[in-house]
Amino acid sequence: MAWTAAASLCCRLVRAAPVRRCARRRTLCSAARSTDAVDREYADLNLRPLYPNRGHHLRIRQHVNPLSALFVEPTEPPEWTEVFEDPLLPLMVDIGCGSGRFLVWLAKNSGERRNYLGLEIRQKLVERTQFWVTELGLRNVYFMFANATVSFEQIVSSYPGPLSLVSILCPDPHFKKRHHKRRVLQTPLVDSITKNLCLGGRVLVQSDVLDVATDMRERFDGYSDVFEHADRIDKDLQCDNEGWLLDNPMGIRTEREIHAELEGATIYRRMYQKTRCFLPDYSIS
Ligand SMILES: C[S@@+](CC[C@H](N)C(=O)[O-])C[C@H]1O[C@@H](n2cnc3c(N)ncnc32)[C@H](O)[C@@H]1O
Ligand SMILES: *[C@@H]1O[C@H](CO)[C@@H](O)[C@H](O)[C@H]1NC(C)=O
Repeated sequence: MAWTAAASLCCRLVRAAPVRRCARRRTLCSAARSTDAVDREYADLNLRPLYPNRGHHLRIRQHVNPLSALFVEPTEPPEWTEVFEDPLLPLMVDIGCGSGRFLVWLAKNSGERRNYLGLEIRQKLVERTQFWVTELGLRNVYFMFANATVSFEQIVSSYPGPLSLVSILCPDPHFKKRHHKRRVLQTPLVDSITKNLCLGGRVLVQSDVLDVATDMRERFDGYSDVFEHADRIDKDLQCDNEGWLLDNPMGIRTEREIHAELEGATIYRRMYQKTRCFLPDYSIS
C-alpha cells in the first residue's frame, strides 16, 4: 500500500516508536481507515454480520498462481434457470469482481430490471459472496469461480437473455512489460465482449493505473466501427480533455476504487456503447 497523508499522520503520532513499529502502525492505520470506508460505502447491505465465525477477516491470498492448470480450463456455464429468477433479463457481467460487494449492491439497489454475474478467480471470495447472496435472498445476482480470459465466451454466449453491460474495474495491473500477457483483458476477450454485447449494450473499464486504463482503452477504441464513447450519446456522461469520464457512472464505487481514491489516486474510466453490429474480419483468400 502506498504512502498516504493519513498514514504519515499515523506515523507522526507514534514518532517516538522505533522505525519498524512505525511502519507496522502505518499499515494498520491506513488499512483500518480503508476498511471503514468500504463498510460505509456498502453500509445498507449490512454484510459484516452475515459471515459467521470468520467475521470480516476472511484470509484471502492476494494473488493466485498464474501458472496453475486449474485456471486455464474454461468453466462450464451454470444452469441459468437455477441461478436467476428470470434468466431472460438483460445481463451485466463484472470481470474480476473481487469481493463482489459492488455487484451485490447494484443487484439490491439499482432498480434496473437486470441480472448480475460476477466472474472471479479467487475461489474463497466467490464462496463468501455467494453466501451473502443467499442470505440476502437475491435472485438476480450470481458469482462464479472462472478465469474470464478463457471462460467468458462460453459462459456468456449460453446466456438466454441479452448481454447489456460488461465491466472490468481496476484489474490487476501486472506492471512489468513481460507480465502484460497476464492482464485479464486480452484480444480474444475484447472480441468476445464486442461480439456478445447487444446493440445499445455498454462496456465500462476503469483503473487507477493510467497505463492499464490506456491499454484497455486502446483495445476498445480500436473497434470504432462498433462502439461510440458513451458521452457522445448520453449527455449525462462527460469527459475531461483527454477523454476520461469525469464521474463514476454506476452510482457506487468498487472496493479497489475506494482504496485508491482514499490514497488520492485518480480513476481513469471509459464507457463504450455498441452502436453497430460486429462483423468479424473475413480475409478473402
Ligand atoms: C485488483 S482486484 C479488483 C477487484 C474489483 N473489480 C474492484 O475494483 O475492487 C482484481 C480482481 O480480478 C481477479 N482476477 C484476476 N484475473 C482474473 C481472471 N483471469 N478472471 C477472473 N478474475 C480475475 C483477481 O483475483 C482480483 O480479485
Ligand atoms: C487464465 O487463462 C489464461 C489463458 O490460458 C492464462 O494465461 C492465465 O494465466 C489464466 N489466469 C490465471 C489467473 O490463472
